[in-house]
Amino acid sequence: MLPVGPLMIEHRLIEKMLDRVSIIVEGIEQKHSVDPVVIDTVVDFIRMYADRTHHGKEEDILFRDMAAKELDENEQRIVTELVEEHKTGRRLTAELVADRERYAAGDASALDRIVANLKALCAFYPEHIRKEDVGFFIPVMRHFTREEQDAMIAEMWEFDRKMIHEKYRAVVERLPS
Ligand SMILES: [Fe+2]
Ligand SMILES: [Fe+2]
Repeated sequence: MLPVGPLMIEHRLIEKMLDRVSIIVEGIEQKHSVDPVVIDTVVDFIRMYADRTHHGKEEDILFRDMAAKELDENEQRIVTELVEEHKTGRRLTAELVADRERYAAGDASALDRIVANLKALCAFYPEHIRKEDVGFFIPVMRHFTREEQDAMIAEMWEFDRKMIHEKYRAVVERLPS
């Protein structure tokens, strides 16, 4: 398997989640309310799966190894854009968390911002995935030998293996002690 294989499989789950988020947005607009726990579920998915696990492998393994290769100008530009888009995703998620807190504390006006934020995530993220999947991830593999690709895959599996422990260590540490 190419090292971008697991990343492209992960894209499919992120897309599925974004479809669910669109349904959540429709529900919020109909009911003019949201259960903050639903937002927590979305945020947990984005932060732990899409950002930490998925972007983590892209940035810490794939893009890191790309930086050691002679990418062409177009490829260089795309990597810069992708990293910037990851930052946009983090900013939107941080705003979503802040608005969720305001809403849960009784500020009903935060609901519009929650909706706007969820819509922004649903609009921007599929485009980001498309940029990676179509015409970038596979062609860029030509810069890597089979051995380099195998080493990347092995590092990705190891990266994933650590995630469940990181996730639940954080769950325990967030609880009062
Ligand atoms: Fe990405
Ligand atoms: Fe990706």
